[in-house]
Amino acid sequence: MSSDTTGGGAPRTGATFGEDTIADARELIARYPQSRSALLPLLHLVQSVEGHVSQEGMAFCAQQLGLSEAEVAAVATFYTMYKRKPCGEHLVSVCTNTLCAAMGGDAIYKRLQEHLGSDGAPLGHEEVAGTPGESGSLMLEHAECLAACDLAPVLQVNYEYFDNQTEQSAVELVDALRRGDKPHPTRGAPLSDFKTVERRLAGLLPDDDDEFWTEVDGPSQAVETVRGAQLAADRNWTAPPAPEDVPMPEVEAK
Ligand code: FES
Repeated sequence: MSSDTTGGGAPRTGATFGEDTIADARELIARYPQSRSALLPLLHLVQSVEGHVSQEGMAFCAQQLGLSEAEVAAVATFYTMYKRKPCGEHLVSVCTNTLCAAMGGDAIYKRLQEHLGSDGAPLGHEEVAGTPGESGSLMLEHAECLAACDLAPVLQVNYEYFDNQTEQSAVELVDALRRGDKPHPTRGAPLSDFKTVERRLAGLLPDDDDEFWTEVDGPSQAVETVRGAQLAADRNWTAPPAPEDVPMPEVEAK
């Protein structure tokens, strides 16, 4: 990877981000009235190429969007989905927010840290087991609520859900990933890898319908999640109609 600078200038981005990536960036930028609005998708695009966001990746975004590198860095370092260190083939996110923690999430995270660590040292948050770029490598992180509290404790691999986990099932899952296997998530799309998912998060989806429906989309609702809606449907309950004339609150001028 060429992250070197020439004469103190901006990092060179040509070797890592070739013509195809530039074309992808232009496609994304064209979707927005203001080019700077494409920064979040572009950072995902960078991760789909590099597996993280390097200084060179931030320079690429800045060049494409006419922003300063400081502006790009301010965004890239704010959101936890943008990784500053190479991620590995997979990203394993264990929810340790309140409900999952109480249901076993803390214990799962601790067990995975110990299981994936080496020389008696547990694997730390956003540290990688294996070598990034090689099959079976994975980054472990603890995560805030993953919006599946009814299925706690949960973890995600590349943002796909593995529900109702135990310490044992989580260890078996990471062992399978380390072997190069791709177990099917509890629901949603089949497992791919971090870079592939980052391309989709950038908003670059397969043109081919079959590929889209088999590789990207998948039934994601769980019985537990829609139980209330199902009960209402079974009993013919409906919400009262919204009143037609609702005065809008006054908006104070800034
Ligand atoms: S607390 Fe874990 S999904 Fe909400």
